[in-house]
Amino acid sequence: MEELKERKVVITGAGAVGSTFAYALAQTGIADTVVLLDQNPELMKGQVLDLQHGLPFSPPIIIREGSQADYHDARVIVITAGAKQQPGESRLNLLRKNIAILEHIALDIAAQGSQAVVVVVSNPVDPLTHAVLEKLDWPRGRVIGSGTFLDSARFRYLLSRHCGIDVHNVHAYIMGEHGDSEFAPWSMAHVAGMPLDQYCLVCNRCDDLKKEKRQIEDEVRNSAYHIIDYKGSTNFAIGLALVQIVAAIIRNQHSVLTVSTLLNGEYGIHDVCISIPCILCESGVERIIEERLTKEELKALVHSANILRKTSEEVHDVSSCK
Ligand SMILES: NC(=O)c1ccc[n+]([C@@H]2O[C@H](COP(=O)([O-])OP(=O)(O)OC[C@H]3O[C@@H](n4cnc5c(N)ncnc54)[C@H](O)[C@@H]3O)[C@@H](O)[C@H]2O)c1
Repeated sequence: MEELKERKVVITGAGAVGSTFAYALAQTGIADTVVLLDQNPELMKGQVLDLQHGLPFSPPIIIREGSQADYHDARVIVITAGAKQQPGESRLNLLRKNIAILEHIALDIAAQGSQAVVVVVSNPVDPLTHAVLEKLDWPRGRVIGSGTFLDSARFRYLLSRHCGIDVHNVHAYIMGEHGDSEFAPWSMAHVAGMPLDQYCLVCNRCDDLKKEKRQIEDEVRNSAYHIIDYKGSTNFAIGLALVQIVAAIIRNQHSVLTVSTLLNGEYGIHDVCISIPCILCESGVERIIEERLTKEELKALVHSANILRKTSEEVHDVSSCK
């Protein structure tokens, strides 16, 4: 790790997500250098100038425009480049647009001999994470997708509102595809230290828990579609979620986060990048946690993996047709 600048983060894609993440990261002091790259030089210049003008109000940090050479000594590379989801467009439809862009960026990263951990954010994030990992041919833990970490945050927020309890006292995950087949493993949801079902007996605020659970899960799954309908893109929550992911890597925190990682037999699933609770540290995913899921939850995970496997096969077809 000698060649790495310990706290340098390169953000490829300076659009809504990349710039919001840079803005949030700059205020934390977690990184000491933030470099923005974008194929649109004017946008990159404008975003960097705007961010630099906020430096009198943030911890000491260098924010600057960059080039591919910056991949060489980056600690973390966060890829937010590419087309974004249009209203009504499924994440999987984005694939055709973004696969070529991400593979090209992966080749640039490889050409610089980078030792970084790569975090893929562009959608559809799971197959794109897989494509970048394959191009780089690195240990699987070093290329991760932001996956359902954002969806898990949405889930915790909705549960906290439902229970009338501080979100920090709600521990719950969304697993599977970052997309339509994601699901809530309810057996793992804990509120105030209790499994949710037990807490509900104490809380007694709702009449029909089964119905409420279904509504919450649907709301999580459809959140991105609603926000995109309202304002064209999602950027604030993902920006903050990325700060947590990058902090876990730079600070070697061993945090448990649901990120997209390549499964090689865990849960009986092979060769698919999918979101599972993982322990995240300086080298990326250190360990994939094999939770004790119920039969239905395991079925939902395998179903989601099958959908993603099919998508990854499409990725191969798209790539081999070029
Ligand atoms: N995983 C998640 O939870 C999550 C959440 C929100 C958005 N996203 C995804 O993140 C991506 C970015 O979203 P956005 O709203 O910032 O889009 P955006 O259009 O605002 O920004 C994308 C940027 O990528 C740049 N770009 C395109 N090709 C490039 C290349 N080869 N090299 C460098 N830059 C390049 C564009 O010029 C643009 O500035 C989308 O794919 C979106 O779906 C993912």
